[in-house]
Amino acid sequence: MLLSPAGVEALRTALTRAGFTSNGIAGRLGSQATGGVARNDFRAALRATEDRDPLATLIRVFICDQTEPDAAVAAALAPLTVEEALAGGLVERHGDGLRAGVDLEPYGDDWWVLADVPASARPGRPLHAEHVLGIGGATQTLIGATVRRPVETALDLGTGSGVQALHLDTHARRVTATDVSERALRFAATTAALNGQDWELLRGDMVAPVAGRRFDLVVSNPPFVVGPGTTTHVYRDSGRVGDAIGAELAAAPSLLTEGGTMQYLANWVHVTGEEWDERVAGWFAGTGLDAWVIQREVADPMAYVNLWLTDVGEAADPQRMAAWLDWFDAHKVEAIGFGIVSLRRSGHDEPIVRVEDLRQRVEPPMGERIAAWFDRQDWLRVRDTDALLAERYRAAEGLQLRQEATMGDEGWAVDRQVLGMPRGLRWQEEIDPLVLALVGGADGRLPLRDQLALLASAHDVAPEELAEAAGPIVAHLVERGIIEPVEG
Ligand SMILES: C[S@@+](CC[C@H](N)C(=O)[O-])C[C@H]1O[C@@H](n2cnc3c(N)ncnc32)[C@H](O)[C@@H]1O
Repeated sequence: MLLSPAGVEALRTALTRAGFTSNGIAGRLGSQATGGVARNDFRAALRATEDRDPLATLIRVFICDQTEPDAAVAAALAPLTVEEALAGGLVERHGDGLRAGVDLEPYGDDWWVLADVPASARPGRPLHAEHVLGIGGATQTLIGATVRRPVETALDLGTGSGVQALHLDTHARRVTATDVSERALRFAATTAALNGQDWELLRGDMVAPVAGRRFDLVVSNPPFVVGPGTTTHVYRDSGRVGDAIGAELAAAPSLLTEGGTMQYLANWVHVTGEEWDERVAGWFAGTGLDAWVIQREVADPMAYVNLWLTDVGEAADPQRMAAWLDWFDAHKVEAIGFGIVSLRRSGHDEPIVRVEDLRQRVEPPMGERIAAWFDRQDWLRVRDTDALLAERYRAAEGLQLRQEATMGDEGWAVDRQVLGMPRGLRWQEEIDPLVLALVGGADGRLPLRDQLALLASAHDVAPEELAEAAGPIVAHLVERGIIEPVEG
């Protein structure tokens, strides 16, 4: 840990006593200053904390990144002493005062997370090779995407600050967290202790420290950045070439208990002459796992390299940039995809593997949407076409239809019809008139077979032909939640 157990207890006392929590800070600053802080504009926050009571000083040091007098910092951290805080790296000497040595973030209702100060806050100072990442966009993506159902055992691979483990602790009886970095584990141990949580912490390379063990839920925000395989910063670089870390994690099905779920973030390359989704689907061949991979973003190589060089404060390094871009050129990388991989050990002979684009904004919580997707797969898996047609369905709530039409001699001719889900995963689906009629008639009253018979006579099609064609279409609509089976 960064502090002794007694030191962590003293820090917790100081933070609690001062009210240094998300709500306490928001209450002290008010909405205008809180909004400013979110945009890195600290002017209003500094005005609101001029009297330097303990909460004000903690806000100035750890939120506004100010250098404050020793006496004020000592009063704010007591009963933790300044000497202990300096020794643990919590604060550092700067000019004739003290400033933050770590990123100590109030998080959630009453948690704190310890991480390193980001590169942007210390311009010109090189990041530690074992820099411990704070709560950024990718971290939050995984937090939001995690299936939060109660489990016995959960594992966080590459725990860093420990923030994923903090969340796992709310719905898992036992939490294990690993990291290759000893430094990161010290931060994670401090985060756990500060929040009164107890995790098993193990050091080692990816799954090595838990070899032979199984978990109900595994999450990982690994160092997923793709490139030549050089490692300068362990939070970002896996040391694996290209997107191999994503494939490596996919090949770890023995980590999961029966019915267990694994979710991780990954990047994958889009290579000229290759379908990106087939490449990623190939990661799961032979694993026996159900897989749902959703691509949330795609970046071109230049933007990608810029982003990750800026992240470590090396944006102005033309040599690093050129070497990285050369590697992309040499490997015909046109773009890099970012997304969420969700795997489940269902124990069925024919695993379902779906790799698709899902770039639209999704209604949170994403984790619940992902869990429901696997539930729907379970429902579909045990039904053949006959069984699907025997069910009654209801169209998703608030479904919308958009039409594009061209005016011709005989009035409007419809060119394109798109169904849109205003809620949930917000799929947009182009459909033909027959499917539109099928969805439009899905009011939960008639079994689909009867509904199709009516449609067949209205459109002058043979009922068996329509029924045959409807099977995969209905399965697809159910998978996406556009129509839902009616229970009972
Ligand atoms: C992107 S950070 C994620 C930190 C944190 N879990 C989060 O979600 O914010 C990746 C973490 O993986 C760790 N890591 C890097 N290479 C690893 C490896 N080969 N095995 C295990 N952990 C590794 C890093 O030290 C770092 O803490």
